[in-house]
Amino acid sequence: MKRSSQHSDLVNKVDRFTESTDGLDRRGFLKCMAWAGTGLLWTVTAEGIPTSHIVGSGKDAKKHASAASGLHFVQISDSHMGFNKPANTDVAATLQVAIDRMNALPETPEFIIHTGDLSHQSKAAEFDAMDQILKGAKPKQIFYVPGEHDTSIDDGKQYLDRYGKNLKGRGWYSFDHKGVHFVGLVNVIQLEGMGQLGDEQISWLKDDLSAVSASTPVVVFAHIPLWTIYPDWGWGTKDSEQAFQYLKRFGSVTVLNGHIHQVMQKVEGNATFHTAMSTAFPQPAPGTAPAPGPMKVPAERLRSVLGLASVNYIQQNNSLAIVDTVLGTAPADGQAAPSALLLPTNLRRDGI
Ligand SMILES: [Fe+2]
Repeated sequence: MKRSSQHSDLVNKVDRFTESTDGLDRRGFLKCMAWAGTGLLWTVTAEGIPTSHIVGSGKDAKKHASAASGLHFVQISDSHMGFNKPANTDVAATLQVAIDRMNALPETPEFIIHTGDLSHQSKAAEFDAMDQILKGAKPKQIFYVPGEHDTSIDDGKQYLDRYGKNLKGRGWYSFDHKGVHFVGLVNVIQLEGMGQLGDEQISWLKDDLSAVSASTPVVVFAHIPLWTIYPDWGWGTKDSEQAFQYLKRFGSVTVLNGHIHQVMQKVEGNATFHTAMSTAFPQPAPGTAPAPGPMKVPAERLRSVLGLASVNYIQQNNSLAIVDTVLGTAPADGQAAPSALLLPTNLRRDGI
């Protein structure tokens, strides 16, 4: 009952929002926001505003790429190598599609950010399979953060051996690139089912950010959402507010997460939050199923639900606004796939 009323709240927010947009009905909007997209091309404009586009093909993708200037990178997430249940019996194939689409972009991204759940069960063979496929990506530099599936067997030892050598703590780090400060955080040591950063990491973050000027765009990435999406399913990070007190002074903060296998986004003050699609399988929208987990869709729809959706960030009145664009076609049955939406009051959508 509680879950369904929360979901109704979300739907009502969507209704209110779509009433105020340019004539797109709620179903159309849901399609815009729904599943799709195996990767996001991120662009940081000359003004330092991160902008994302779904990795796709065709003239729209070309248009986005040619408009890009400055920094380009791609985010992929939740590849779950080794998963072979009915929701997707060939996760290697769908990851390969994501890489193929990335490689087909008119401009090669400078690097990839993988926001965790590389593997399904932290097995060596799963990490090996992931590495093998990613070797085929044109971008050769990949930045990782672990998902809870990457740390489930050995508390993350193998993950750290492979991807986290010389990193701090359980694998958190920062780097600067083209005037943007990137911070990779680890929040998969869960507390009461929610993500958790922990005091040591938050203290490190405070020190790390103290050396960065407030005008520097900051991109924070971690596996579990760093904003509270749906606590009943653990979709949030228990101590994220402690971390965000150190991010408040920055003019532009973009937060990239995975874990929930669907696009959700929110703009709050200086921060834009975005969760990415999985390359492996979808999960239900919050409150629409008894529990989170792999969601089976008809086989002919699988690639479309991992397929093509887009999010664009633009600067408007000193705040970030979001433009959603669908580059792919809707499922043949016309049904909007479930998608969870939390819409801030300053969200703006410019057509599809
Ligand atoms: Fe996942």
